[in-house]
Amino acid sequence: MSNILVTGGAGYIGSHTCLQMIAAGFTPIIFDNFSNSKPTVVKRIAAISGQTPQVYQGDIRNRHHLDEVFAQHHIDGVIHFAGLKAVGESMAKPVEYYENNVSGTLTLLQAMQAANVKRIIFSSSATVYGEPESMPIHEDFPTLSATNPYGQSKLMIERILQDLAKAQPDWSITLLRYFNPVGAHPSGTMGEDPQGVPNNLAPYIAQVAVGRREKLSIFGNDYPTVDGSGVRDYIHVMDLADGHVAALTYRLKQAGVHIYNLGTGQGYSVLQVLHAFEQACGHSLAYQICPRRAGDIAECWADSTKAAKELHWQATRSLSQMADDTWRWQSNNPNGYPES
Ligand code: NAD
Ligand code: WQD
Repeated sequence: MSNILVTGGAGYIGSHTCLQMIAAGFTPIIFDNFSNSKPTVVKRIAAISGQTPQVYQGDIRNRHHLDEVFAQHHIDGVIHFAGLKAVGESMAKPVEYYENNVSGTLTLLQAMQAANVKRIIFSSSATVYGEPESMPIHEDFPTLSATNPYGQSKLMIERILQDLAKAQPDWSITLLRYFNPVGAHPSGTMGEDPQGVPNNLAPYIAQVAVGRREKLSIFGNDYPTVDGSGVRDYIHVMDLADGHVAALTYRLKQAGVHIYNLGTGQGYSVLQVLHAFEQACGHSLAYQICPRRAGDIAECWADSTKAAKELHWQATRSLSQMADDTWRWQSNNPNGYPES
């Protein structure tokens, strides 16, 4: 049984990953400052899995607290989800983003070195590819053109980890580049719980569907895509969670840097996603066409064959499952997780 420290384990992707880790026999130890999540998620993990993961309310920038946690457990590896993730906010607050994401990761790595824990799986993002020249996106595409501080922070952390592996070749470093995570646990008891106005498409549509918001603004209908709206590779959060379990299983104990795209390989437009949600909730959803959003690209989808080959993983859940599961979560929990 491996003990895995899961930074940001109470968040959207982290909580679903903890669930799948428990099902696969790993022991997650959650370390989260709850800046973008609520402690009640842990009760939901326990209700589904039958096990209550150990939770530390802590900040990855607090070296002393990390040292204490590493001293208290034999930790076999770390999955590092903790970070701030809102692109627009990162442009308004670059210093906070670099400090939380980059500086926080450096503190975590220092604590890992001190505890002789040399295995890490890092949450990276398709955003590191910027605006690629062709589709689908392979792992060896250039990663030089992230357009905002959030994306830059992911790129910087990738570089730091790669330099670390060069200096200390016994480290095992896995960079998972997620495409667009959506969906929820099929029970309808766990899902995405954005604070304030959602930045991302699926949670915004879900809030329109449940009556919390009036209509969706579609950012552009003049892209060179199937219907003019932007195209993305949406991946079900449970598939993403399974991808982490596969990375733990096949890569955690192998030294070196391992990089994988986690996507489905299939792109869908904003309108196609909206229609999937209309099917899920059983009524039509209001929208308006707006100008393009600054920094958006027309389309983006993954080549995930490397993960299929080396991690024996591929996404299996469809767009309609993503919409159905999100709707079940949203309609059962219109205001997200309760405070207590
Ligand atoms: P999330 O905000 O739901 O989860 C992140 C968690 O980290 C939250 O629970 C938050 O409280 C915690 N956290 C933030 N700063 C912390 C700190 N300094 N110390 C301790 N805990 C801290 O986000 P998510 O969607 O689950 O994303 C998880 C990771 O995956 C992030 O690193 C994000 O950048 C990355 N990612 C997300 C997406 C996406 O679209 N959701 C796509 C690609 C990559
Ligand atoms: C998807 C599509 C929008 C909202 C972002 C980050 C990326 C990663 C995933 C963390 C686009 C359109 C959206 C709305 C809309 N996150 N849209 N109306 O921009 O692909 O990726 O989240 O790593 O780094 O950049 O995701 O969900 O914001 O947008 O029309 O209200 O939906 O224009 O075409 P994006 P998104």
